[in-house]
Amino acid sequence: MSPQAEVKNVTVPWVAAAREHAEPLVMVTAYDCPQGRTADAAGADIVLVGDSLAMVVLGYPDTLSVTMEEMLHHVRAVRRGVKRALLVADMPYGSFHLGTEPAVGNAVRFVKEAGAQAVKIEGARPEVVGAMVAAEVPVMAHLGLTPQSVHRLGGFKVQGREKAARQAILEAALAVEAAGAFSLVLECVPADLAAEITGRLEIPTIGIGAGPRCGGQVLVYHDLLGLEERIAPRFVRRYAELGKLSREGIERFAADVRGGRFPAAEESYGGLPPAAAAGGDGVQKVYG
Ligand code: KIV
Repeated sequence: MSPQAEVKNVTVPWVAAAREHAEPLVMVTAYDCPQGRTADAAGADIVLVGDSLAMVVLGYPDTLSVTMEEMLHHVRAVRRGVKRALLVADMPYGSFHLGTEPAVGNAVRFVKEAGAQAVKIEGARPEVVGAMVAAEVPVMAHLGLTPQSVHRLGGFKVQGREKAARQAILEAALAVEAAGAFSLVLECVPADLAAEITGRLEIPTIGIGAGPRCGGQVLVYHDLLGLEERIAPRFVRRYAELGKLSREGIERFAADVRGGRFPAAEESYGGLPPAAAAGGDGVQKVYG
């Protein structure tokens, strides 16, 4: 285990001071209690209940339709599995876009009703960040490719390639930091832009498709473990093939049930009843 993973209790100030730590921050998403427990036990510093929930768990084509109630439900479940890592709740589309007052109200719900220690919001919204921080809700900002802006951006594309777009992202990063954000996710931006932003900010950047010079890295649970096999953006590295392993496990279970090999005596209570006659194919009959 790394020295950083031995920190007993990850807090917002500890994350905000990531520059003083020897190692980059490790963030991973999770959507239910066992995933939260697994990420925590593996030493992730931050567990994010991402609105990627919509795509990787709920089967929607994008993140736009996931609701506050769905996010709250999953944050509560993850809360029950996470002990050491900082738990961050992603605010869904529509929950912070309709004025600062409802935005703060929704952010407070994640802390009060679901046990989140911070929220994440997409986009250049320093006024919303400031209002949430004033209400004691720590905010992780998110710039670059912000999937909730998919229609305005015209798709899931790398952001900040042109000079004006680079400047806009840099200025937005400085603005959300000045408004009180304690960290900043940079998604799908050129690696040199991410390095420049990381160098200009005091708070840590956490990259996804933003190159190695960020204060930390994040991947989606289902991508890094191979549970999501349909899309593999360039920035995903798969550390396991759990989708394939799961399919193979269920295929073996199905074959054992159909072949009369499951359950065995040691998986049954009170021993096995007398064997029924085998059919012509040699498989034991269930219905006598
Ligand atoms: O929703 C999510 O999973 C995210 C991460 C990609 C940062 O926002």
